[in-house]
Amino acid sequence: MNTLFVYFLFVGAALAQADQTWVTVYRNAKQSCNSSINLDLPTDKAYYQLNVLVENNDVTKNMDFYLWGNLKLEKWQTSNGQQNKYSIYSDCAYGEDMGYYDSSKCIDFVPNYISWDEARTICSTKYDGMLKDVLNEKDTLYLGKYSGNTEYWIGLREIWTNESVFAWDRGLNNAMQSYKLSDYNLWPNGQLPTIDKTKKCVAMANSTWFLDDCASKKVFICQRASQALAVGKYRFLPSNCVGDTYNVKIQVSPDTSPELP
Ligand SMILES: *[C@@H]1O[C@H](CO)[C@@H](O)[C@H](O)[C@H]1NC(C)=O
Ligand SMILES: *[C@@H]1O[C@H](CO)[C@@H](O)[C@H](O)[C@H]1NC(C)=O
Ligand SMILES: *[C@@H]1O[C@H](CO)[C@@H](O)[C@H](O)[C@H]1NC(C)=O
Repeated sequence: MNTLFVYFLFVGAALAQADQTWVTVYRNAKQSCNSSINLDLPTDKAYYQLNVLVENNDVTKNMDFYLWGNLKLEKWQTSNGQQNKYSIYSDCAYGEDMGYYDSSKCIDFVPNYISWDEARTICSTKYDGMLKDVLNEKDTLYLGKYSGNTEYWIGLREIWTNESVFAWDRGLNNAMQSYKLSDYNLWPNGQLPTIDKTKKCVAMANSTWFLDDCASKKVFICQRASQALAVGKYRFLPSNCVGDTYNVKIQVSPDTSPELP
């Protein structure tokens, strides 16, 4: 391993502009091609994505970046074509791969037709998560986009002991979270449908909620929190670097949705 001096420029969160969520943690206008980059991930908050931005040099064309010398970073060219971007994401893979819902949540649409309770159990045991909640317009738009008019279970149901009192699944090992009828909802016309002893679980289709028999078999959606990038030291090593120097900036994001290539 070479021991070339690496110039560090740490820019604290204080310098991040109000209109952006990216925090620059490393910058060097003349990074030597054969030198590694070392940095500490800030500890002020949880970060979910890290980008290494490389620009303005032909050497970027075929460069790769490795974390700790062995984990190859995902690479793609940014829209202006002047910059290559290499990313590390927080991890949504857990037992089975989940997709990114946003920077702090993983999600999976599970195409198996099963009862609400079975679905809840799978979200908990297989994903260490819960059935998807629908708490705001963002959730509604996202689920509507991917599920359309398919009927699928969400994490809401009447609690077992009390007719007409609803709660959100928070995983098998956690108490359910009480839901008030004044909370965000997608009941038709904003009105809770007529209570029916045989229909205690909530399904969604066409961006609308409806009550159904918990035993009826539907596809479902699981979610869980994504893990933040581990705090601590990171070391990046470039390879296929054929020029002398390149410009590099490393940014982390606390709350921007990951940009997938
Ligand atoms: C959703 O919309 C489709 C197409 O308009 C319709 O056939 C279906 O019955 C709707 N499902 C529900 C649960 O409203
Ligand atoms: C059921 O919920 C209603 C409304 O919140 C409440 O008034 C009633 O006491 C509850 N009953 C039981 C058995 O928990
Ligand atoms: C790294 O590159 C510089 C020139 O850019 C060169 O002088 C130096 O010897 C190289 N170091 C190693 C370990 O290859």
